[in-house]
Amino acid sequence: MKPQPLEAYVEQMTLAEKIGQLLQLAVSFFEGAETEGEITGPMEVLGVSEENVRNTGSVLGLSGAQEAINIQQAHLRKNRLGIPLLIMADIIHGYKTIFPVPLAIGCSWDLKLAERSAEIAALEAAVSGVHVTFAPMADLVRDPRWGRVMESAGEDPFLNGEFARAFVRGFQGKDLQNDTSRVAACVKHFAAYGAAEGGRDYNTVDLSERQLREYYLPAYKAALDEGCEMVMASFNTVDGIPSTGNKRLLRRLLREEWGFGGVIISDWGAVKELIPHGAAADEKEAALRSIEAGIDIEMMTTCYMKHLAELAESGVIDEKLIDEAVLRILRLKQKLGLFDNPYRGADPAREAEIVFCGEHRAVSRELAAKSCVLLKNEGVLPLRRDQSIALIGPFAQSGDILGPWSWQGSTEAAVRLVDGIAAKTGMGRIAVAEGCGFEEASDRQLEAALRAAEGADVIVLALGESSEMSGEAGCRGDIRLPQAQLALIERLAELGKPMAAVLFNGRPLDLHGVADRAGAVLEAWFPGSEGGHAIADLLFGDAQPSGRLTMSFPYAAGQIPVYYNHFNTGRPKDAPDAQVRYVSQYLDMPNEPLYPFGYGLSYTSFAYGEPGLSSPEMTPDRPLTVKVKVANTGVAAAEETVQLYVRDLAGDVVRPVKELKDFRKILLQPGETREVAFELTEPQLRYHHADLTFASDAGDFLVYIGPNSRDAAGMRFSLRL
Ligand code: GLC
Repeated sequence: MKPQPLEAYVEQMTLAEKIGQLLQLAVSFFEGAETEGEITGPMEVLGVSEENVRNTGSVLGLSGAQEAINIQQAHLRKNRLGIPLLIMADIIHGYKTIFPVPLAIGCSWDLKLAERSAEIAALEAAVSGVHVTFAPMADLVRDPRWGRVMESAGEDPFLNGEFARAFVRGFQGKDLQNDTSRVAACVKHFAAYGAAEGGRDYNTVDLSERQLREYYLPAYKAALDEGCEMVMASFNTVDGIPSTGNKRLLRRLLREEWGFGGVIISDWGAVKELIPHGAAADEKEAALRSIEAGIDIEMMTTCYMKHLAELAESGVIDEKLIDEAVLRILRLKQKLGLFDNPYRGADPAREAEIVFCGEHRAVSRELAAKSCVLLKNEGVLPLRRDQSIALIGPFAQSGDILGPWSWQGSTEAAVRLVDGIAAKTGMGRIAVAEGCGFEEASDRQLEAALRAAEGADVIVLALGESSEMSGEAGCRGDIRLPQAQLALIERLAELGKPMAAVLFNGRPLDLHGVADRAGAVLEAWFPGSEGGHAIADLLFGDAQPSGRLTMSFPYAAGQIPVYYNHFNTGRPKDAPDAQVRYVSQYLDMPNEPLYPFGYGLSYTSFAYGEPGLSSPEMTPDRPLTVKVKVANTGVAAAEETVQLYVRDLAGDVVRPVKELKDFRKILLQPGETREVAFELTEPQLRYHHADLTFASDAGDFLVYIGPNSRDAAGMRFSLRL
C-alpha cells in the first residue's frame, strides 16, 4: 500500500465504500474471528452482506494479537483499496491486569497512579491488537442507584476532569503514531449520561444548559484538552433530543464551539434507538438525524449502511457530510500509523510475555490499596497477626472482585480475600465460612458461620454486591446490601466480638445494618486482580488506608441525589435563626449523607492547624496563598489528602455551598508536621452566569481547607475586579 493523501482515498472510494467506513461491527462478523468478542448490547440480525463486511471501517470487542492479525490480514485481502480496520474495545480499568474500578481509582486521589494504570492497560491492549479504547468515562454522577457510577471518578466536576486527563495521558502517551504501546482514547458518554432520571440506565436526562455547562461538560472538555482522539455520544436525551441525533450538542457545541475535529461514534445500537426514543419515524430518518448531528461511526446497527446512499443520491443530504466523516476516520487510522503498519502493536510473543505480568500486577496492588476507603474504625483494625480470624461472607473466597467492565480479566486468577489473608498469616488461624450467598441464605450456611465465629478473636466479614449488581444496566432502587447479607451481619453482631466489614461493591451503598453493627468498615469497591493482597495489606497495617470518597454515601436512598456541592436554598436547615419546621429538611432523616465527599480515615490521626490567608483581598493579578499546617499525631506514617474548597457567597446565579478547587496528597511520618500552601487565582472563581457567560464576580467568598468536604474550616476573602 503506497502512502497517498487521505483525500485521494476518499476520491477513489465508491459511495458504498465510504459508507462502509462509517459502520462498526462486532468481531464475530469478520473472517479470522475466533471469538464472539465482547457483547455489551442487544445482538440483532443486521442483514449485512459479505460486501458490507468487506467495506466496514472498524471492529469492536476484538482481543488477542493473533486474532487481530488474522482478521486484519483477511480484511486487507478483501478490501478493494486496502484500508485497514480500526480495532476498538472497552479497556476500562485494565485489560487482563485488572485495576480497581474507576470510582475506586477516583478515591485514591492519585493522578500519577491513575495515569500509570491507564498506561499499563494501553500496553496490554495494544500488544493484543487493540487500537482504540472506549474510555475514559467522564460522566458526572450523583445518583448511586445508577449502576454505572462505578465507571466514573465521582461527583465532582473538577476532580473528574483531572482524572479524565490522567487517563487520556496514560492511554495515548505523547505520540500515538510511533508509540505502538499506546491506544487512542474515546471519552464518553457525551453528554450527561450520568444524570439519568431515577438513576435508571438509559433514562431521560433533562438539565438546564447552565447546569450542563457548569457541572456536566467540564470533564469531557478536560479529556479533549488533553488530546483525546474520539468521543462517544450517549444513549440519553439532552433537552428532549437523544444525543445521537442531537445537532445542537454534537455539531454546534462539540464540533463548532469546542473545535473538536476527531471521530464521534454512537453508542451500541444508539442510531436505531432514535426510533423507540420517538425521535425518528424509521431507520432512514434515524440515519438522517445522526449524520446531520455529526455521528461519524454507527455502532452495531445499520441505518447508515442501508439508507445513507439513498439520502445522498436523492439530495436530502450533501455527500460532503459523508466524505467529512470518512476523512476523520481515515485520519485517525493514519494517526495510529495503520496505513504503514496495519498490525501496529499486535504481537503474540510480547503479548504472552507482558500481559498480566508481575510488574503490572504490583501496580494494581498498590492502586487497590490506595483506593480502599476506611469508613469507620473503633479500634478493630489493623488486625494483629496473632489474632485468630473468622473470615465470613460471600466475598471471603470469591474471585468476583474484578467488577464490571473486566471482560478480559480472569476471576480465577484474581487474588481472593482468603488468599490475601492467608499470605500474611497462613491458614492455621483462619476459619472460613460463606455465611450466605450474595442474595440467598440457608440455615446450614449460617450455622457454619456462627461456628467459625465462636472460636475466633475477630470476625472479618466480606460482604457486598456481585459484579452483576452494578455496571451497565445494573441499577438498583434499593441500595442496601441484599437482605441475606444483612441478616448474616445481624446474627454475627449478636456474638459481641470485634468485627470488621470489608465491602465489595460498585456504588455508594446505604449502609444501614452494616455501619451500625460492624466496629470497622473498609470500603474495598471492586479492587481488581490483586484485591485480596491489597486488602490484606490494609487489614494488617502493612499499607495505610488513604482513600477518600469521591462520591457521597447517602444516609438512605430517599436522599438521592445527595452530593456535597449542592445549593444552600433560601431556608437552610443549619442557619442560626432557622425555624424548627419551615426549613429545607427531611422529617425522618438528616440532610447530610452518612459519609461525605472527601471523607476517609487512616490508622493514624492528623491535626490541622489554623489555616492562613496571604491577604483578605484577591485581584486578578494578586492571587491568594492559602496555607495550613498538618501534623501526623498518630503512630503510623500515612498519606493525607488536604482539600481546598471555595464558596461564592453571592452570585448572579446561586452557587454551591462548597466547591473543590485543589488538593494535595502528602505523606507524613509520625510526629511530622508539614505546611501545605495552595495558590488560589481569579480564574478558579469563574462560573457560568444566567446568560451563560463564564466569569467571576467581585464580592465575598469563603475558602475552606480540611480533610474532607464536611470538616473544613472557612475563611473570608473578597475578590476585587
Ligand atoms: C455500551 C456502552 C459503552 C460501550 C459500548 C461498547 O453499551 O454504553 O460504554 O463502550 O457499549 O461496548
